[in-house]
Amino acid sequence: MQPSTPQQIHLADYRPPAYLVDHVHLTFRLAPKGTRVISRIRFRANPAGTGGDLVLDGEGLRLIGAAIDGVALGAGDYLITQAGLRVAAARLPGDAFTWEAEVAIDPEGNTALEGLYLSKGMFCTQCEAEGFRKITFYPDRPDVMAPFDVRIESDLPVLLSNGNPVGQGAGWAEWHDPWPKPAYLFALVAGDLVAHADSFTTMEGRAVALNIWVRPGDEGKCAYAMDALKRSMAWDETAYGRAYDLNIFNIVAVDDFNMGAMENKGLNIFNSKFVLASPETATDRDYEFIESIVAHEYFHNWTGNRVTCRDWFQLCLKEGLTVFRDQQFSADARSAPVQRISDVLQLRARQFREDAGPLAHNVRPEAYAEINNFYTATVYEKGAEVIGMLHRLVGAQAYRAALDLYFARHDGQACTIEDWLAVFSEVTGRDLSQFKLWYTQAGTPRLSAAWSMAEGQMHLTLRQEVPATPGQPHKSPMLIPVALGLLDQTGAEILPETLVVLDQAEVVIPFDLAALAAEAGRPLPEAVIPSLLRGFSAPVILDAPVSRADRLVLLAHDTDPFNRWEAGRSLMRETLLGMLLGGAADQALFAAMGRLLADDSLDPAFRALVLALPSEDEFAQAAQEAGIVPDPVIIHATRRDLQVAMGVALGPVLTQLYDALDPGPSYRPDAAQAAQRALRNAALHLLTLSEGPTRAQAHYDAANNMTDEIAAFTALLDIGDSDVAGRFHDRWKDDRLVMDKWFMAQISHAAPGGAVALARRLSAHPLFDWTNPNRFRAVIGGLTAGNPAGFHDPSGAGYGFVADWLIRLDARNPQTAARMSSAFETWRRYDADRQAMILAALDRIAAQPGLSRDLAEMVGRMRAA
Ligand code: BES
Ligand code: ZN
Repeated sequence: MQPSTPQQIHLADYRPPAYLVDHVHLTFRLAPKGTRVISRIRFRANPAGTGGDLVLDGEGLRLIGAAIDGVALGAGDYLITQAGLRVAAARLPGDAFTWEAEVAIDPEGNTALEGLYLSKGMFCTQCEAEGFRKITFYPDRPDVMAPFDVRIESDLPVLLSNGNPVGQGAGWAEWHDPWPKPAYLFALVAGDLVAHADSFTTMEGRAVALNIWVRPGDEGKCAYAMDALKRSMAWDETAYGRAYDLNIFNIVAVDDFNMGAMENKGLNIFNSKFVLASPETATDRDYEFIESIVAHEYFHNWTGNRVTCRDWFQLCLKEGLTVFRDQQFSADARSAPVQRISDVLQLRARQFREDAGPLAHNVRPEAYAEINNFYTATVYEKGAEVIGMLHRLVGAQAYRAALDLYFARHDGQACTIEDWLAVFSEVTGRDLSQFKLWYTQAGTPRLSAAWSMAEGQMHLTLRQEVPATPGQPHKSPMLIPVALGLLDQTGAEILPETLVVLDQAEVVIPFDLAALAAEAGRPLPEAVIPSLLRGFSAPVILDAPVSRADRLVLLAHDTDPFNRWEAGRSLMRETLLGMLLGGAADQALFAAMGRLLADDSLDPAFRALVLALPSEDEFAQAAQEAGIVPDPVIIHATRRDLQVAMGVALGPVLTQLYDALDPGPSYRPDAAQAAQRALRNAALHLLTLSEGPTRAQAHYDAANNMTDEIAAFTALLDIGDSDVAGRFHDRWKDDRLVMDKWFMAQISHAAPGGAVALARRLSAHPLFDWTNPNRFRAVIGGLTAGNPAGFHDPSGAGYGFVADWLIRLDARNPQTAARMSSAFETWRRYDADRQAMILAALDRIAAQPGLSRDLAEMVGRMRAA
């Protein structure tokens, strides 16, 4: 029997809240099993509402007592349901009243890590999106904003909440947050914690105390996160004119956390993985993540907290914008072209994949059963791309003016995408109604280009097609900004970067080549090479008939670094597809890559990106787009063949890079050193595949930092070293974050035929704590994302293994189980046998009694399309 799909909530049904909140006072008497939460909430009828009953959200709360305006409520005065509590309008004293309640909750029994829970003896909260209703009865929706006062009573030494501290004594502390905020930004932490402290003075001259709170023993691993925080604060002042607005900013690191980090007002809570770092335990990638996530959560203070979302359909209002801002910050802090390429890699790997399958949805979704399922690559990353397109269309100056207006007009409000677009329309006078389709139409547009030349004239035809997606069979043409340049056949640029806008199904753009060539001081070319979609100016799939020879010219000469990289990438993708169909590796491509790798004027990080092969999943996606049914096992083998061929063909230059790029014994996590290690370790990897273990073994023994150690470790795993995992384990068994890497790397780098068996064995390892989300992701995600050929083993064992674990985790932590179920979203790509086995796994999950709304919705959507 198929369980029915869970009840959906629709954007079209939005109604303003009946009651607003003027003030919240909360007292917490903390105890692991029986915490008491005493609330005093000042309500007022919403002038824009329809009045009526007082309806409060509440889940898993035991009501001890309630009163309105000091009069205790009897059992007949309210109605409690699974979802909350209702007081009939007739029982309310008037338009404004004070609600008081005491509830009991069980933090220790809270395994979902949503609401108030315990992580290793530390109390902490996660309220976004709808966790506050597990703490007390409240209108738990983002358009109800209020100032909060919080009193915490506990014997634990450190007691934190939002806002500024107003008092503390033995066993208590009080906090006041003056800024009206929705309940999802509420936070509380209590524990035995130590602070890495610092301070920052804002451009307004306000001194801000900064603290990063961690468990004793971890205080030596906070310096980088603190440095990133101070740089983020300064950057938001310069780039957006936004200063911090409280006397204190606290960050807390917790080990058990469903997500990466959370922007609670004045009290950010982080997965410890994105705070703690030392050269010995964290990789350059980890440092980079710490920097960008600290920045992201800090930037939410203005884009999310001061200006928040009216409802959860508008999630991209804060997330897309804040991702765009953290990408800008990282581009400024490191290398802009490398950042752009990495962002696009990520977008294609996660968002294009999502858009091409059954989970495709709008950047602004229109319906959901469980909002936690919509914190997606589409909302985040495509949401950020949409803002990047706006930025490009209107220009940096108008963008800044529009944001100034946005903050001035909407500070303290809960807003919509319409509000967001309106400031751009007003500042620029543009009609953005067609642009808005980026928010309301799902699917990755396909952009195709063709051109012809005659008598010194070129005609460029651009065409778009938006594929059907679940629930959206017909699409309208989008507004697509296409940045482009033209090169002649020597690689000289005859048209510098220009922006054209495709706003119909097809446009034809003329170029006067004779004039352009004259202007560039070049002879009239017989043929030109278009460099299209520079900087990846729109999140589309580009299909342009640029010959292989011309792409080699772009790889060598394009002035746009993104398109230089893209030319190499597309050649590599094509080479892989060709090899899949029996062709040989492309020696001309290797020669071109060799020249580029040896060019020391290029950033080593850029060169490392050029050297990187498309992932197996990207390769499978490309095969699917080319009409080939991908076999993950063959894809893995083909990709490995290409790696070995590259190692052989590029051996001398790789050896030279390996020898030349040693940054020396003093480790710094900055972009310059990280770039050297990235290229050196990429060389090490290919050389190990083509030459054998000697170099990697020496590299492993000599490593004085985790970046080098893990590079050697994974290279050795790739060639079947049976000894290195034991050595790594013995050294790091007591370090939780490093052991996550140990679990993940072994599974990701196992030979596909043995990956499921290894994952099974490691899931029985004494250190496999499946209740910790990071550890669960390391093992299950190590298989699904890290080893697609293993996951898609023809026996179906991978599907069974993952389904078993998702079912088990769902009973305890639905949010993480649901999130990981998207491993199955690509099922339509594969052959009939694999499809049938995946569907059987999904059906088995769907048939579980008591399945969560989270996982039921995910499985239902994947199954339906
Ligand atoms: N607001 C989110 C955290 C969140 C997500 C809470 C989903 C509840 C449900 C936070 O700002 C965020 O976006 N975190 C990201 C990292 C970020 C750098 C993209 C995360 O946790 O993955
Ligand atoms: Zn965010």
